[in-house]
Amino acid sequence: MKSFRTLILAALILGLEASPVATGSARPWRQVKRQTSQLRDSYDFVIAGGGTTGLTIADRLTEAFPEKTVLVIEYGEIQPTPGTFDPPQTVWGGAVIGQAAYWTFNSLPNPDVKNKTGLVLAGKTVGGSSAVNGMFFDRPAQVDFDLWSNIGGAGLKSWDWDGLFPFFKKSVTFTEPTAEVVQKYGYTWDMSAYGGTTPIYSTFPPFLWADHPIMRNAWKELKVKVQKECAGGFKDGLCWIPISENPMTARRSHAGIGHYAAVNTSRSNYDLLVRHQVTKITYPNGLDTGPPVVQVKSLVTEKLFNVSAKAEVILSAGVFNTPSILLRSGIGPDNYLSTAGISLVHHLPGVGSNLQDHSGPGISWNYTLPFEASMWPLPSAMLDPDFVANATADFDKIPARGPYTLAQSNTALFLSLSKMASSTLARSISTKMRQIVSAKTSASYLPRESRAHPELVAGYDAQLLALAKFYENPLAPTLEVPWATGTAARLIFLHSLSRGTVRLNLSSPLDQPILDFRTASNPIDMLVHLAHVRFLRKIYQTPTMQRYGAVEVAPSEEIANDDAKLADYVKDTMTFSFMHPCCTAAMLPPKKGGVVGPDLKVHGLKGLRIADMSVLPVLPSSHLSALAYAVGEKAAHAIIEEWDGKAKGKGKGKR
Ligand SMILES: Cc1cc2nc3c(=O)[nH]c(=O)nc-3n(C[C@H](O)[C@H](O)[C@H](O)COP(=O)(O)OP(=O)(O)OC[C@H]3O[C@@H](n4cnc5c(N)ncnc54)[C@H](O)[C@@H]3O)c2cc1C
Ligand SMILES: *[C@@H]1O[C@H](CO)[C@@H](O)[C@H](O)[C@H]1NC(C)=O
Ligand SMILES: *[C@@H]1O[C@H](CO)[C@@H](O)[C@H](O)[C@H]1NC(C)=O
Ligand SMILES: *[C@@H]1O[C@H](CO)[C@@H](O)[C@H](O)[C@H]1NC(C)=O
Ligand SMILES: *[C@@H]1O[C@H](CO)[C@@H](O)[C@H](O)[C@H]1NC(C)=O
Ligand SMILES: *[C@@H]1O[C@H](CO)[C@@H](O)[C@H](O)[C@H]1NC(C)=O
Ligand SMILES: *[C@@H]1O[C@H](CO)[C@@H](O)[C@H](O)[C@H]1NC(C)=O
Repeated sequence: MKSFRTLILAALILGLEASPVATGSARPWRQVKRQTSQLRDSYDFVIAGGGTTGLTIADRLTEAFPEKTVLVIEYGEIQPTPGTFDPPQTVWGGAVIGQAAYWTFNSLPNPDVKNKTGLVLAGKTVGGSSAVNGMFFDRPAQVDFDLWSNIGGAGLKSWDWDGLFPFFKKSVTFTEPTAEVVQKYGYTWDMSAYGGTTPIYSTFPPFLWADHPIMRNAWKELKVKVQKECAGGFKDGLCWIPISENPMTARRSHAGIGHYAAVNTSRSNYDLLVRHQVTKITYPNGLDTGPPVVQVKSLVTEKLFNVSAKAEVILSAGVFNTPSILLRSGIGPDNYLSTAGISLVHHLPGVGSNLQDHSGPGISWNYTLPFEASMWPLPSAMLDPDFVANATADFDKIPARGPYTLAQSNTALFLSLSKMASSTLARSISTKMRQIVSAKTSASYLPRESRAHPELVAGYDAQLLALAKFYENPLAPTLEVPWATGTAARLIFLHSLSRGTVRLNLSSPLDQPILDFRTASNPIDMLVHLAHVRFLRKIYQTPTMQRYGAVEVAPSEEIANDDAKLADYVKDTMTFSFMHPCCTAAMLPPKKGGVVGPDLKVHGLKGLRIADMSVLPVLPSSHLSALAYAVGEKAAHAIIEEWDGKAKGKGKGKR
């Protein structure tokens, strides 16, 4: 079963230069452009950012329009980006933080969380964050998209589950695990959620640590619903989560491979320029004449260069850098731009506002009774050099097997507030949210600068009202607990009410921007964290945890019973970002602080769309990479329809 493609992909991920002869139809990395002198005079489409969403769009546009040219401009390099648990790492979860493949941010101090700062990463390489992420490949639920249209109104109906599901399906090739693996680990899935043939891969790994069933069994004993498949629109309960890896080699599958390197070389209309920064966009002939000119800076020579697009410019530089490009261009909140000394080109208060992320505390415990001898291997086996040598050899087999085929977590609990807390508590939290709106005090929870913009306040009110309804829905998760192994668990709060900002570093505006999460700035968030911790502590009483003598380490009973002490504990153990930032150029109507419409076109500007995780109105109940691919597919579909239509309108053969 050593398929040709598998070998090509393995070679690519190892960073080898694939020769055209050896690779058949795959695109050798050396076709990548490194200097603006290698570019064409102009392009039909210019995409800023060669990440998860941007490369998906580039692949689809070059496929649909053989006679139209596409340029992707990427800040980073082509880099071999290993999976999250690939050799030679010998420590569980030992991350590759600090390598050049990442943007690394420390957020501003969070005054409501002891002035602590949060670490946030994003991919800075061909493939973007899909090339560096945790490879956990879950999808949002139907309720998440209903939430969007409850906030944004009827215009967002095209982004409901039915509007997105075909693109989720198209965006990935899911490979079923073997019967032997299924028998061993009990994976379940439903093929009706899949069906795509795109070379972006997901599968279940043929390896799990032996203590893996403990938590799943404990959750089952708490009577949570066990879902057969969570990618089909319903994920309240216990889920198996596929990971984004090649099913044969178990190497990371990412946009740089699947939507660039794997693309047929005969598609000569697809250019990728690396090591160049999109600094800003300009409208030299006025805002009515688009698309804008794209200004690019070489990271090698530091020279500036203008790229022009004939059809459209698409910003896909991610949640932090897409708003940075706009702010540098004078497109953003007028009061901020004025303070920053940037001349106003177009007032759009939502740019760089509405920053959200998944956050939350952790709990830990000890087992005081031994595991059965049959419960082997555990991650501690990675301390044994023989075990590691075997694991490394197994990883290089085709198909790959053993520990290194496992990324991080492969199962998770998703639960609604009303299922885990008393219905009185769930209702009182929703009531508080509605009261903030009716008392007209919601603005006081927004960043000071945003309070001046009625659109942002109206948008926040709409979010609070829609989230109040969401929190009351027993099918709408507020908590995720991912699980793999060990004696600690993270409680991921999925739908925070606190909103932050992305702003330029004014002493160095071309550098990475400054993030302010404002975590827990809306105090209702803390009530939800408390409910989450109190629910999850119930696992210690389950027969499964008792069998191994589970004893709580943190928090303690005493802390957990006291609101103030538990809030303090939550702050002490807070993870500010689970690396799922979003929403800094939200798809909402202008009157609600939106930056783009349902067609992803920027309000009030010609020839400009945004397509990346900044367009989400609010965070969904999922990690974001599967959604980023689906957004890329849906955006490409909209762009293709528009330009296909234009060509047809002018008579065939014109495009
Ligand atoms: C460490 C980490 C772990 C994660 N774990 C998971 C996980 O396990 N599962 C999951 O589903 N999701 C995970 N995510 C989130 C998910 O991968 C991202 O949300 C998603 O890939 C973002 O896609 P995007 O298209 O919005 O942006 P990206 O994929 O980040 O692409 C943006 C690209 O634009 C480039 N760029 C930025 N500025 C410029 C500029 N000015 N000019 C040119 N290029 C520019 C960047 O270098 C980057 O390549 C994780 C993210 C990170 C960082
Ligand atoms: C956080 O920092 C601000 C500004 O430096 C300070 O006024 C405040 O007291 C600090 N808060 C805490 C909890 O340390
Ligand atoms: C690549 O494209 C060429 C030209 O369109 C086509 O003949 C060839 O079959 C394609 N190769 C693959 C593997 O799809
Ligand atoms: C790029 O175009 C802008 C006008 O939009 C112009 O001001 C600038 O000088 C140009 N830069 C280069 C390097 O040509
Ligand atoms: C490594 O593999 C060899 C050969 O299959 C086996 O005999 C040995 O027990 C394995 N060692 C460990 C620690 O798994
Ligand atoms: C802003 O840029 C300056 C100059 O590069 C740097 O010293 C400073 O640390 C940056 N500030 C932040 C908050 O990142
Ligand atoms: C839990 O285990 C750790 C490591 O063995 C030990 O240091 C700690 O004292 C234990 N804590 C409790 C509460 O049992």
